[in-house]
Amino acid sequence: MRILALVTVVCVAAWAACSLLPERFAFNAPVAHLLFGSGTEAPAAETVRTRLRVPEGLDVELYADDLPFARMLRVTPTGDLLVSLPRSDRIELLERDADGDGRPDGRRTLLEGLDRPHGMDLRDGWLYVAEAGAIARVQFDPTLRETRGEIERVVQGIPRGGNHWTRTLRFGPDGWLYASIGSSCNVCIEEDPRRAAIVRYRPDGSSEQLYATGLRNAVGFDWRPDTGELFATDNGRDLLGDDLPPCELNRIVEGGFYGWPYAYGDNVPDPDLGAGEEDRIARAHPPDHGFRAHNAPLGITFVRGDRAPAAFRGAALVSLHGSWNRTQKDGYKVVSLHWTPTGIEERDFLTGFLLDEDVMGRPVDVAEGPEGSFYVSDDYAGAVYRVFPEGGARATPSTAARTNAGGPAAPALGDPSRGETLYEALACAGCHEPAADAPGAVVISLDAVAARYDEQTLAAFLAAPTPPMPAVEQPEAGRRDLAAYLLSKH
Ligand code: HEC
Repeated sequence: MRILALVTVVCVAAWAACSLLPERFAFNAPVAHLLFGSGTEAPAAETVRTRLRVPEGLDVELYADDLPFARMLRVTPTGDLLVSLPRSDRIELLERDADGDGRPDGRRTLLEGLDRPHGMDLRDGWLYVAEAGAIARVQFDPTLRETRGEIERVVQGIPRGGNHWTRTLRFGPDGWLYASIGSSCNVCIEEDPRRAAIVRYRPDGSSEQLYATGLRNAVGFDWRPDTGELFATDNGRDLLGDDLPPCELNRIVEGGFYGWPYAYGDNVPDPDLGAGEEDRIARAHPPDHGFRAHNAPLGITFVRGDRAPAAFRGAALVSLHGSWNRTQKDGYKVVSLHWTPTGIEERDFLTGFLLDEDVMGRPVDVAEGPEGSFYVSDDYAGAVYRVFPEGGARATPSTAARTNAGGPAAPALGDPSRGETLYEALACAGCHEPAADAPGAVVISLDAVAARYDEQTLAAFLAAPTPPMPAVEQPEAGRRDLAAYLLSKH
């Protein structure tokens, strides 16, 4: 829906014409650029510095541009950033900023010729990509920054077309592959039950299950590390005026129904389809948090690392793409959500994209990078920004740079014997070493760590591992000790 913002500008008030447009989104990138304008014009670094605002203790910079319609983000175990560009059918890899100049050290097109690639996740050596009508995967080596072999389509026949064509996927802590599929319309009864829903699959694409329904367009979802609960953003319907309905953050439970198209917000009957649906509406889960109407929450990520300022640990960062269906623009920022004893509190995290009705960018996804940094994608400017601790290590120096320099900025090396103690205390062996009493259990070998990581990247991996590996909730020094131990042993 919100993706139509620029279209709306083009076709002004012609609702009928607008509603036809999504089917024709197969424009190639240059045509789309001409049609929608500004899609690839990133702001100057200086504009970013003067206009964008972050909370005290943080800083923001333009990290990369020339990424037309940049959408979802994924940080690889070695600290590179994957960016999906669905309008140009490709996925770009931005190499980790090891030299600390505030820019990726290099970039390459990792995959091309995909069908509107959007959500991505990494697991067991595979890169999974949600296409408009399928889930694709390809073998990916994060150290060599290369894919290998053919692209496999492990799920086909996902309903496509209609309003909401972007598909998001992510592995849950339970090892299932979750995918959200938005509704085909603003408000209607869907024919395919997988629309306006979250479905899940086994990693090989089998065992499709309808996990949660009544979600108009849950573009972003993530699991809260403290509790394992799944939270998803959802975009409320349009054409009910400026201040209705709220956009939502829902706590998703298996089999849960979230109201659309019969109700919105706190189970308020929808004026078009709510009449006579009282029973259904009574079963709907109301949101845990309401965003302002038409703010269009998209990507969400929980802060897992401990390098971010303490205020953000355990919080969730959510991109608000911004309104199109509103007389005065609203949203266009990244907010942080804080779980407090009295409920969820929403605070500004990255603002300034909207200034006196002038739009400079539209945030889409947020991802946590190494060293307490966060990346934010922007599909309006075709850019990625980086928010990082002020005066802190924005750079993620490579092992070589660190050992050679030995200067005051060099982080301390980990202590393998302390690491061994932690390895035992945190019961890592439970998943990583064969147990005498469970001979058939799946064991994830750590034999390849030395070939795949250095101490720094391994410590970073432990801060934000690939699910279902749990994040190592330890101070950075502890993760370094663990990394040093693993590298000495393997
Ligand atoms: C609940 C099971 C579980 C526990 C407990 C666990 N891990 Fe893991 N770990 C995994 C899984 C699963 C993977 C593979 C993730 C993936 O798909 O890449 C993994 C991956 C890893 C990797 C990356 C290996 C590679 O080659 O990419 C490292 C390193 C690692 N774990 C270290 C640890 C350490 C250290 C601990 C203890 C603090 C730990 N793990 C605890 C399940 C677990």
